[in-house]
Amino acid sequence: MGGILRNVKISAVGAWVPPRVLTNQDLEKIVDTTSDWILERTGIQQRHIADPEIATSDMAIEAAKLALAERGTTAEDVEAIIVCTVTPDHMFPSTACIVQNKLGAKHAWGFDLIAACSSFVYGLTTAAHLVGAGTHKKVLVIGADTMSRIIDYQDRATCVLFGDGAGAFLIEPGDEDGLGFVGFKNEIDGSGCDVLKMPAGGSRMPPTHETIDKRLHYVHQDGQQVFKFAVRRMGEVSASLLAQHGLKPSDVKLMVPHQANRRIIQACADRLGMPIENVLINIERYGNTTAGTIPIATREALDTGRLKKGDLVLFAAVGAGFTVGANLWRWAY
Ligand code: UT7
Repeated sequence: MGGILRNVKISAVGAWVPPRVLTNQDLEKIVDTTSDWILERTGIQQRHIADPEIATSDMAIEAAKLALAERGTTAEDVEAIIVCTVTPDHMFPSTACIVQNKLGAKHAWGFDLIAACSSFVYGLTTAAHLVGAGTHKKVLVIGADTMSRIIDYQDRATCVLFGDGAGAFLIEPGDEDGLGFVGFKNEIDGSGCDVLKMPAGGSRMPPTHETIDKRLHYVHQDGQQVFKFAVRRMGEVSASLLAQHGLKPSDVKLMVPHQANRRIIQACADRLGMPIENVLINIERYGNTTAGTIPIATREALDTGRLKKGDLVLFAAVGAGFTVGANLWRWAY
Protein backbone atom coordinates (compact mmCIF):
# COMPACT_ATOMS: atom_id res chain seq x y z
CA MET A 1 0.00 0.00 0.00
CA GLY A 2 1.05 3.58 -0.42
CA GLY A 3 2.63 5.17 2.64
CA ILE A 4 5.03 3.77 5.13
CA LEU A 5 3.75 0.23 5.64
CA ARG A 6 5.73 -2.78 4.52
CA ASN A 7 4.07 -5.55 2.56
CA VAL A 8 1.66 -7.59 4.74
CA LYS A 9 -0.27 -10.75 3.93
CA ILE A 10 -2.96 -13.01 5.34
CA SER A 11 -1.18 -16.37 5.50
CA ALA A 12 -3.80 -18.69 7.02
CA VAL A 13 -7.48 -18.84 7.95
CA GLY A 14 -9.20 -21.08 10.52
CA ALA A 15 -12.87 -21.31 11.45
CA TRP A 16 -14.77 -23.24 14.07
CA VAL A 17 -18.44 -23.40 15.05
CA PRO A 18 -20.00 -25.45 17.84
CA PRO A 19 -21.73 -28.58 16.54
CA ARG A 20 -25.22 -28.01 17.94
CA VAL A 21 -27.65 -26.48 15.43
CA LEU A 22 -30.74 -24.38 16.20
CA THR A 23 -33.07 -24.28 13.20
CA ASN A 24 -35.85 -21.84 12.37
CA GLN A 25 -38.29 -24.66 13.11
CA ASP A 26 -36.77 -25.01 16.59
CA LEU A 27 -37.29 -21.28 17.15
CA GLU A 28 -40.96 -21.59 16.15
CA LYS A 29 -41.37 -23.61 19.35
CA ILE A 30 -39.65 -20.99 21.52
CA VAL A 31 -41.05 -17.64 20.32
CA ASP A 32 -43.98 -16.38 18.23
CA THR A 33 -42.31 -16.60 14.81
CA THR A 34 -42.36 -18.64 11.64
CA SER A 35 -39.54 -20.23 9.73
CA ASP A 36 -40.75 -18.44 6.60
CA TRP A 37 -40.68 -15.02 8.28
CA ILE A 38 -37.09 -15.54 9.43
CA LEU A 39 -35.93 -16.82 6.05
CA GLU A 40 -37.70 -14.09 4.08
CA ARG A 41 -36.66 -11.18 6.32
CA THR A 42 -33.10 -12.29 7.14
CA GLY A 43 -32.00 -15.17 4.89
CA ILE A 44 -31.24 -17.32 7.95
CA GLN A 45 -32.23 -21.01 8.14
CA GLN A 46 -30.17 -22.18 11.10
CA ARG A 47 -27.43 -21.11 13.48
CA HIS A 48 -24.91 -22.95 15.67
CA ILE A 49 -25.22 -22.68 19.45
CA ALA A 50 -22.49 -23.45 21.99
CA ASP A 51 -23.21 -25.98 24.73
CA PRO A 52 -22.97 -24.54 28.27
CA GLU A 53 -19.38 -25.63 28.86
CA ILE A 54 -18.10 -23.78 25.77
CA ALA A 55 -17.10 -20.12 26.16
CA THR A 56 -15.74 -17.62 23.64
CA SER A 57 -12.09 -18.45 24.36
CA ASP A 58 -12.72 -22.14 23.60
CA MET A 59 -14.03 -21.35 20.14
CA ALA A 60 -11.27 -18.78 19.58
CA ILE A 61 -8.62 -21.38 20.44
CA GLU A 62 -10.09 -23.97 18.05
CA ALA A 63 -10.13 -21.44 15.20
CA ALA A 64 -6.59 -20.28 16.00
CA LYS A 65 -5.28 -23.86 16.09
CA LEU A 66 -6.76 -24.52 12.65
CA ALA A 67 -5.11 -21.39 11.23
CA LEU A 68 -1.73 -22.29 12.73
CA ALA A 69 -2.02 -25.87 11.43
CA GLU A 70 -2.84 -24.63 7.92
CA ARG A 71 0.30 -22.49 8.00
CA GLY A 72 2.37 -25.31 9.51
CA THR A 73 3.57 -23.11 12.35
CA THR A 74 3.26 -23.21 16.13
CA ALA A 75 1.75 -20.90 18.73
CA GLU A 76 5.24 -20.16 20.04
CA ASP A 77 5.93 -18.12 16.90
CA VAL A 78 2.93 -15.84 17.45
CA GLU A 79 3.89 -12.37 18.68
CA ALA A 80 0.48 -10.78 19.22
CA ILE A 81 -3.10 -11.99 19.63
CA ILE A 82 -6.09 -9.74 19.01
CA VAL A 83 -9.40 -11.25 20.11
CA CYS A 84 -12.32 -9.40 18.55
CA THR A 85 -15.47 -10.02 20.60
CA VAL A 86 -18.45 -8.55 22.43
CA THR A 87 -18.85 -11.72 24.47
CA PRO A 88 -15.52 -12.11 26.30
CA ASP A 89 -15.22 -14.94 28.84
CA HIS A 90 -15.07 -12.26 31.58
CA MET A 91 -15.01 -8.46 31.78
CA PHE A 92 -11.37 -9.02 32.70
CA PRO A 93 -8.84 -10.53 32.29
CA SER A 94 -9.09 -10.25 28.54
CA THR A 95 -10.01 -13.28 26.47
CA ALA A 96 -6.67 -12.75 24.69
CA CYS A 97 -4.92 -13.74 27.96
CA ILE A 98 -6.92 -16.96 28.21
CA VAL A 99 -6.24 -17.77 24.56
CA GLN A 100 -2.51 -16.97 24.91
CA ASN A 101 -2.17 -19.30 27.88
CA LYS A 102 -4.16 -22.26 26.58
CA LEU A 103 -2.64 -21.97 23.11
CA GLY A 104 0.88 -21.88 24.56
CA ALA A 105 1.72 -18.66 22.71
CA LYS A 106 4.61 -17.96 25.07
CA HIS A 107 5.98 -14.97 23.18
CA ALA A 108 2.72 -13.15 22.47
CA TRP A 109 1.11 -10.08 23.96
CA GLY A 110 -2.40 -9.12 23.03
CA PHE A 111 -5.75 -7.62 23.85
CA ASP A 112 -9.48 -7.79 23.24
CA LEU A 113 -11.02 -5.46 20.70
CA ILE A 114 -14.66 -4.41 21.10
CA ALA A 115 -16.26 -2.96 17.98
CA ALA A 116 -19.22 -5.34 17.70
CA CYS A 117 -19.81 -6.57 14.16
CA SER A 118 -16.99 -4.40 12.74
CA SER A 119 -14.43 -5.67 15.20
CA PHE A 120 -12.85 -8.28 12.95
CA VAL A 121 -12.22 -5.63 10.27
CA TYR A 122 -10.75 -3.32 12.92
CA GLY A 123 -8.59 -6.19 14.19
CA LEU A 124 -7.38 -6.92 10.68
CA THR A 125 -6.50 -3.27 10.17
CA THR A 126 -4.62 -3.20 13.48
CA ALA A 127 -2.69 -6.38 12.68
CA ALA A 128 -1.78 -5.04 9.23
CA HIS A 129 -0.19 -2.06 10.94
CA LEU A 130 1.64 -4.10 13.59
CA VAL A 131 3.17 -6.28 10.88
CA GLY A 132 3.50 -3.46 8.33
CA ALA A 133 5.48 -1.39 10.84
CA GLY A 134 8.09 -4.15 10.85
CA THR A 135 7.77 -4.79 14.59
CA HIS A 136 5.78 -8.05 14.43
CA LYS A 137 6.15 -11.12 12.22
CA LYS A 138 3.11 -13.21 13.21
CA VAL A 139 -0.12 -11.74 14.54
CA LEU A 140 -3.29 -13.73 15.16
CA VAL A 141 -6.57 -11.91 14.64
CA ILE A 142 -9.46 -13.90 16.06
CA GLY A 143 -13.14 -13.05 15.74
CA ALA A 144 -15.16 -15.03 18.26
CA ASP A 145 -18.61 -14.54 19.76
CA THR A 146 -20.94 -16.62 21.87
CA MET A 147 -23.97 -14.46 21.09
CA SER A 148 -26.37 -17.04 22.56
CA ARG A 149 -25.18 -15.95 26.04
CA ILE A 150 -26.43 -12.36 25.59
CA ILE A 151 -29.53 -13.02 23.49
CA ASP A 152 -33.00 -12.89 25.00
CA TYR A 153 -34.80 -16.00 23.79
CA GLN A 154 -38.08 -14.28 24.70
CA ASP A 155 -37.43 -11.48 22.16
CA ARG A 156 -38.38 -12.70 18.70
CA ALA A 157 -36.93 -9.60 17.04
CA THR A 158 -33.37 -10.48 18.08
CA CYS A 159 -33.17 -14.17 19.02
CA VAL A 160 -33.71 -15.35 15.45
CA LEU A 161 -30.73 -13.38 14.16
CA PHE A 162 -27.66 -14.53 16.04
CA GLY A 163 -25.45 -17.61 16.33
CA ASP A 164 -22.12 -18.65 17.87
CA GLY A 165 -18.80 -19.19 16.12
CA ALA A 166 -15.21 -18.13 15.62
CA GLY A 167 -12.62 -17.58 12.93
CA ALA A 168 -8.94 -16.61 12.89
CA PHE A 169 -6.50 -15.06 10.41
CA LEU A 170 -2.72 -15.23 10.70
CA ILE A 171 -1.04 -12.02 9.49
CA GLU A 172 2.59 -12.00 8.40
CA PRO A 173 5.04 -9.97 6.33
CA GLY A 174 4.33 -10.40 2.63
CA ASP A 175 6.93 -11.67 0.22
CA GLU A 176 5.44 -10.95 -3.19
CA ASP A 177 5.00 -7.44 -4.58
CA GLY A 178 1.43 -6.53 -5.38
CA LEU A 179 -0.10 -9.11 -3.03
CA GLY A 180 -1.38 -8.53 0.50
CA PHE A 181 -2.84 -5.53 2.33
CA VAL A 182 -4.10 -2.78 0.04
CA GLY A 183 -5.85 -0.40 2.43
CA PHE A 184 -8.61 0.34 4.90
CA LYS A 185 -11.35 2.78 5.74
CA ASN A 186 -12.80 2.50 9.22
CA GLU A 187 -15.07 4.91 11.05
CA ILE A 188 -17.29 5.40 14.06
CA ASP A 189 -20.59 7.26 14.22
CA GLY A 190 -21.25 7.22 17.94
CA SER A 191 -24.60 8.93 17.54
CA GLY A 192 -25.89 5.39 16.97
CA CYS A 193 -24.87 4.15 20.43
CA ASP A 194 -28.42 3.62 21.69
CA VAL A 195 -29.95 1.69 18.80
CA LEU A 196 -28.01 -1.52 19.42
CA LYS A 197 -26.62 -2.26 22.85
CA MET A 198 -26.46 -4.42 25.93
CA PRO A 199 -27.66 -1.82 28.43
CA ALA A 200 -26.55 -3.31 31.76
CA GLY A 201 -23.49 -5.01 33.20
CA GLY A 202 -20.95 -2.24 32.68
CA SER A 203 -20.00 0.78 34.81
CA ARG A 204 -23.04 2.76 33.63
CA MET A 205 -25.51 0.23 34.94
CA PRO A 206 -23.93 -2.46 37.11
CA PRO A 207 -25.88 -5.66 37.65
CA THR A 208 -28.72 -5.49 40.17
CA HIS A 209 -31.84 -7.54 40.73
CA GLU A 210 -33.69 -4.81 38.86
CA THR A 211 -31.45 -4.93 35.76
CA ILE A 212 -31.94 -8.68 35.65
CA ASP A 213 -35.72 -8.44 36.13
CA LYS A 214 -35.85 -5.89 33.29
CA ARG A 215 -33.77 -8.20 31.06
CA LEU A 216 -31.16 -5.49 30.51
CA HIS A 217 -28.24 -7.93 30.20
CA TYR A 218 -29.37 -8.94 26.75
CA VAL A 219 -29.01 -7.41 23.28
CA HIS A 220 -31.53 -4.61 22.69
CA GLN A 221 -31.92 -3.43 19.13
CA ASP A 222 -33.94 -1.04 17.00
CA GLY A 223 -33.63 -3.28 13.96
CA GLN A 224 -34.87 -0.82 11.37
CA GLN A 225 -32.42 1.92 12.40
CA VAL A 226 -29.52 -0.53 12.22
CA PHE A 227 -30.76 -1.87 8.90
CA LYS A 228 -30.94 1.59 7.28
CA PHE A 229 -27.54 2.67 8.56
CA ALA A 230 -25.90 -0.62 7.51
CA VAL A 231 -27.24 -0.50 3.96
CA ARG A 232 -26.13 3.11 3.49
CA ARG A 233 -22.72 3.14 5.16
CA MET A 234 -21.42 -0.32 4.26
CA GLY A 235 -21.84 0.56 0.59
CA GLU A 236 -20.58 4.14 0.88
CA VAL A 237 -17.47 3.28 2.87
CA SER A 238 -16.63 0.39 0.52
CA ALA A 239 -17.03 2.63 -2.54
CA SER A 240 -14.89 5.32 -0.97
CA LEU A 241 -12.12 2.84 -0.08
CA LEU A 242 -12.07 1.48 -3.62
CA ALA A 243 -11.96 5.00 -5.10
CA GLN A 244 -9.12 5.95 -2.74
CA HIS A 245 -7.05 3.20 -4.37
CA GLY A 246 -8.14 3.92 -7.94
CA LEU A 247 -10.21 0.73 -8.01
CA LYS A 248 -13.78 -0.02 -9.09
CA PRO A 249 -16.31 -2.50 -7.69
CA SER A 250 -15.75 -4.58 -10.83
CA ASP A 251 -12.09 -5.02 -9.80
CA VAL A 252 -13.21 -6.89 -6.67
CA LYS A 253 -13.15 -10.65 -7.18
CA LEU A 254 -14.94 -11.36 -3.93
CA MET A 255 -16.67 -9.25 -1.33
CA VAL A 256 -16.85 -10.88 2.10
CA PRO A 257 -19.36 -8.76 4.02
CA HIS A 258 -20.45 -9.09 7.62
CA GLN A 259 -23.41 -11.47 7.69
CA ALA A 260 -26.23 -9.70 9.57
CA ASN A 261 -29.09 -9.91 7.11
CA ARG A 262 -29.20 -11.19 3.52
CA ARG A 263 -31.27 -8.15 2.53
CA ILE A 264 -28.60 -5.77 3.89
CA ILE A 265 -25.92 -7.60 1.86
CA GLN A 266 -28.07 -7.61 -1.30
CA ALA A 267 -28.91 -3.89 -0.98
CA CYS A 268 -25.27 -3.04 -0.38
CA ALA A 269 -24.16 -5.06 -3.42
CA ASP A 270 -26.85 -3.34 -5.54
CA ARG A 271 -25.69 0.09 -4.41
CA LEU A 272 -22.08 -0.79 -5.21
CA GLY A 273 -23.12 -2.21 -8.58
CA MET A 274 -21.51 -5.51 -7.63
CA PRO A 275 -23.01 -8.75 -8.97
CA ILE A 276 -24.28 -10.87 -6.10
CA GLU A 277 -22.27 -13.85 -7.47
CA ASN A 278 -19.16 -11.94 -6.37
CA VAL A 279 -20.41 -11.64 -2.79
CA LEU A 280 -19.95 -14.44 -0.24
CA ILE A 281 -23.20 -15.15 1.62
CA ASN A 282 -23.45 -17.99 4.13
CA ILE A 283 -25.83 -16.40 6.63
CA GLU A 284 -28.38 -19.17 5.95
CA ARG A 285 -26.25 -21.66 7.92
CA TYR A 286 -24.71 -19.54 10.67
CA GLY A 287 -26.85 -16.45 11.30
CA ASN A 288 -24.99 -13.44 12.64
CA THR A 289 -21.95 -14.59 14.65
CA THR A 290 -20.85 -10.94 15.16
CA ALA A 291 -17.00 -10.95 15.06
CA GLY A 292 -17.01 -14.47 13.63
CA THR A 293 -18.84 -13.88 10.35
CA ILE A 294 -16.02 -12.57 8.16
CA PRO A 295 -13.33 -15.16 9.00
CA ILE A 296 -15.90 -18.01 8.87
CA ALA A 297 -17.08 -16.81 5.45
CA THR A 298 -13.49 -16.39 4.24
CA ARG A 299 -12.67 -19.99 5.21
CA GLU A 300 -15.68 -21.07 3.17
CA ALA A 301 -14.53 -18.98 0.19
CA LEU A 302 -11.17 -20.75 0.27
CA ASP A 303 -12.72 -24.22 0.68
CA THR A 304 -15.06 -23.68 -2.26
CA GLY A 305 -12.40 -22.22 -4.56
CA ARG A 306 -14.00 -18.77 -4.63
CA LEU A 307 -10.86 -17.03 -3.37
CA LYS A 308 -7.51 -17.61 -5.06
CA LYS A 309 -4.06 -16.09 -5.12
CA GLY A 310 -4.08 -12.65 -6.75
CA ASP A 311 -7.80 -12.00 -6.18
CA LEU A 312 -8.83 -8.62 -4.79
CA VAL A 313 -11.03 -9.20 -1.73
CA LEU A 314 -13.16 -6.60 0.03
CA PHE A 315 -14.11 -7.11 3.69
CA ALA A 316 -16.86 -4.80 4.93
CA ALA A 317 -18.93 -4.52 8.09
CA VAL A 318 -21.24 -2.32 10.11
CA GLY A 319 -21.89 -2.89 13.80
CA ALA A 320 -23.15 -1.45 17.06
CA GLY A 321 -21.78 1.96 17.89
CA PHE A 322 -22.17 2.53 15.00
CA THR A 323 -18.87 1.13 13.80
CA VAL A 324 -18.03 0.76 10.13
CA GLY A 325 -15.04 -1.00 8.62
CA ALA A 326 -13.74 -1.88 5.18
CA ASN A 327 -10.46 -3.54 4.16
CA LEU A 328 -9.01 -4.39 0.76
CA TRP A 329 -6.49 -7.20 0.44
CA ARG A 330 -5.02 -8.93 -2.61
CA TRP A 331 -5.07 -12.61 -1.69
CA ALA A 332 -1.51 -13.88 -1.28
CA TYR A 333 -1.76 -17.69 -1.17
O1 UT7 B 1 -24.75 -6.66 12.73
C1 UT7 B 1 -25.56 -5.67 13.22
C2 UT7 B 1 -26.65 -6.37 13.94
N1 UT7 B 1 -27.96 -6.22 13.51
C3 UT7 B 1 -28.45 -6.04 12.26
O2 UT7 B 1 -27.79 -5.85 11.30
C4 UT7 B 1 -29.94 -6.09 12.15
C5 UT7 B 1 -30.51 -5.09 11.20
N2 UT7 B 1 -31.95 -5.18 11.12
C6 UT7 B 1 -32.59 -6.23 10.58
O3 UT7 B 1 -31.97 -7.15 10.10
C7 UT7 B 1 -34.10 -6.16 10.48
O4 UT7 B 1 -34.53 -4.88 10.89
C8 UT7 B 1 -34.81 -7.25 11.32
C9 UT7 B 1 -34.57 -8.62 10.71
C10 UT7 B 1 -34.28 -7.22 12.76
C11 UT7 B 1 -36.30 -7.01 11.34
O5 UT7 B 1 -36.79 -7.00 10.02
P1 UT7 B 1 -37.74 -5.82 9.52
O6 UT7 B 1 -38.12 -6.15 8.16
O7 UT7 B 1 -37.03 -4.53 9.78
O8 UT7 B 1 -38.97 -5.99 10.47
P2 UT7 B 1 -39.62 -4.92 11.45
O9 UT7 B 1 -38.74 -4.69 12.62
O10 UT7 B 1 -40.08 -3.75 10.66
O11 UT7 B 1 -40.89 -5.73 11.94
C12 UT7 B 1 -41.95 -6.05 11.03
C13 UT7 B 1 -42.95 -6.89 11.78
C14 UT7 B 1 -43.34 -6.34 13.13
O12 UT7 B 1 -44.72 -6.58 13.33
P3 UT7 B 1 -45.79 -5.42 13.10
O13 UT7 B 1 -45.39 -4.32 14.03
O14 UT7 B 1 -45.67 -5.05 11.66
O15 UT7 B 1 -47.07 -6.10 13.46
C15 UT7 B 1 -42.55 -7.17 14.09
O16 UT7 B 1 -43.17 -7.28 15.35
O17 UT7 B 1 -42.39 -8.19 12.03
C16 UT7 B 1 -42.54 -8.51 13.41
N3 UT7 B 1 -41.44 -9.38 13.80
C17 UT7 B 1 -41.52 -10.72 13.67
N4 UT7 B 1 -42.47 -11.53 13.21
C18 UT7 B 1 -42.22 -12.84 13.21
C19 UT7 B 1 -40.23 -9.05 14.32
N5 UT7 B 1 -39.51 -10.15 14.53
C20 UT7 B 1 -40.28 -11.20 14.14
C21 UT7 B 1 -40.09 -12.59 14.11
N6 UT7 B 1 -41.08 -13.36 13.64
N7 UT7 B 1 -38.94 -13.16 14.53
